[in-house]
Amino acid sequence: MLHTYHFPTTILFGIGALEALPGRLRSKPPAPVLLVTDRGLVEAGLCARVEAVIERAGRDVVRFDAVHPNPVEADVVAGAARYREAGCAEIVALGGGSPMDTAKVIGVLATHDGALLDFDALRGGDARIVRPLPPLHAIPTTAGTGSEVGRSAVVVAQATGRKTIVFHPRLMPATAVLDPALTVGLPPHLTAATGFDALTHAVEAYLARGHHPMADAIALGAVEFVARHLPVAVAHGDDLDARGGMLVAATMGATAFQKGLGAVHALAHPLSNHYGTHHGLANALLLPGVLAWQLEHRRAAFSDDLLRRYERLARIWEPDARAEDLPAILARFRADLGLAGRLAAAGVQPEDVPQLAAEAYGDPCRPENPIDLGRDDLAAIYRAVLAA
Ligand SMILES: [Fe+2]
Repeated sequence: MLHTYHFPTTILFGIGALEALPGRLRSKPPAPVLLVTDRGLVEAGLCARVEAVIERAGRDVVRFDAVHPNPVEADVVAGAARYREAGCAEIVALGGGSPMDTAKVIGVLATHDGALLDFDALRGGDARIVRPLPPLHAIPTTAGTGSEVGRSAVVVAQATGRKTIVFHPRLMPATAVLDPALTVGLPPHLTAATGFDALTHAVEAYLARGHHPMADAIALGAVEFVARHLPVAVAHGDDLDARGGMLVAATMGATAFQKGLGAVHALAHPLSNHYGTHHGLANALLLPGVLAWQLEHRRAAFSDDLLRRYERLARIWEPDARAEDLPAILARFRADLGLAGRLAAAGVQPEDVPQLAAEAYGDPCRPENPIDLGRDDLAAIYRAVLAA
């Protein structure tokens, strides 16, 4: 059964939701659709399934599958050129966060003059996004990043070698197609790692600084979905109810984190930059330890409200739990999913810690953490998690 709802992206949810995609294609007269994906999804046959659905509706598809796992500027430049040459008028993105982020920036470059760095959000580049972007229809094949309902994209700039964030409300996809049948091929360890990213979005958003009761409610709902569905999706990859639950959890987690994230994401980003650690796995390695360190070493800085939030999260798993139980509950949840709990597994060496901590301190997520953490605190957290 197909469910359609708007928040504000139009979400098509249900087994076979992919079949409803043509009804969302808008260009008149019908123009070719640029399909942005990666080679893994071509080899897995998912790309051909999506192309068949679009072509059956009488639309031509122009395939662009040269997306790197961490998208680089050459990807978005080539994709925008393909879009213009073929006279496309809208974009379909198929895959995890990488094809979705790439598709968002292709939409910007295809409709605006300028290079990637001109649109760098940290340099005010959002003000240069002034024209409507091509409608983007996102089809996630993992349940984690929630980029299908997000308004930002990350692409590595050629000149700086750094991740550039492009952020604008117009980047938000017009459609998110959540079809659990498209995620059944995701192996257990990637299901667990991407699912932990969704969990970390929700937990950090709920605990983040700031007043956003709507985001809080959605975050709690996302944690409940993850607690219920992720173990089943990992153990029984073909369970469509669990796969659907995790797709919904990922969109809820990403919707909630407009409130903010926190120290876990700030400490996780340098691990991916230096060791290539999978983003979800980096969050999983850190989440229990980061919360435990703050409870142990910054207890005086906890407000009553923050302690109640820890308790409320813990009670999603154990009805009588106390705030102090949350880190151990999350560590057990992680272990039950078969995810590693040792930071050394990511290749982190003790001598790397000062550099990692400096980068975590400069991360835009760090000031959103509910407790103020300095450079030394962040280094101490890395060391504590390394020693665990
Ligand atoms: Fe994340």
